[in-house]
Amino acid sequence: MGRRKLAAGNWKMNGVKAALAEIEALEAAYPAPDCDVLICPPATLISAMAAVGNTVKVGGQDCHANASGAHTGDISAEILADAGASAVLVGHSERRADHGESDADVNAKAEAAWRAGLIAVICVGETEAERTAGKALDIVGGQLAGSVPAGATGENTVVAYEPVWAIGTGLVPTLEDIAEMHDFMRAELAKSHPAAFDDFRLLYGGSVKPSNAAEIFAVSNVDGGLVGGASLKAADFGGIIKAASEG
Ligand code: PGA
Repeated sequence: MGRRKLAAGNWKMNGVKAALAEIEALEAAYPAPDCDVLICPPATLISAMAAVGNTVKVGGQDCHANASGAHTGDISAEILADAGASAVLVGHSERRADHGESDADVNAKAEAAWRAGLIAVICVGETEAERTAGKALDIVGGQLAGSVPAGATGENTVVAYEPVWAIGTGLVPTLEDIAEMHDFMRAELAKSHPAAFDDFRLLYGGSVKPSNAAEIFAVSNVDGGLVGGASLKAADFGGIIKAASEG
């Protein structure tokens, strides 16, 4: 298969300049890991983090679909790229919930990311009510169909499965449930993207920690993780980079 694992961190609305010391610590401890490493800090830190990072690549947490214009408070993929980003998260569940982003919005943002030369990390995942109702596969299948544009390839796109109920809660699906979902996503992408489906990296996200990363990264069709809380400190994220390197 040859898919290189990706350890991705999402700092969310956390991090001021002093936090760049965490990146320096990661660079010192893991100068050449056998995986790709991405951190998505607040936009204010992108340019400084890109200057400090070498192994650690830097991404945005969201982008507007347009390249520029009268959109106060938003940021475009082109502006992220200019600041030093090489990727951007699109459709994180917190954006979908807090800002009402639809699959169509996420689809347009992914295309905007490519337009600027960024990798789109497209996030999907069901809520607790949807899983309890037995609808997890249906929901994620619908999100993939709506959010992943036709032009997606293994080079320009990563897909992250993040069950909403596992984010920031310490709850994690069983390894069997993760395998079922990731195998399902690969099969859905095989139908929608027959030329590229085997190249996409499929990340698991939701309460990934150093203590559970290795077993999760060993699951079928899991090509790394998207990590929130445990990406903020080098001591924790280092353990996740180590697990991705060895997995
Ligand atoms: P968490 O967040 O690792 O803190 O659960 C994951 C995410 O929202 O990307």
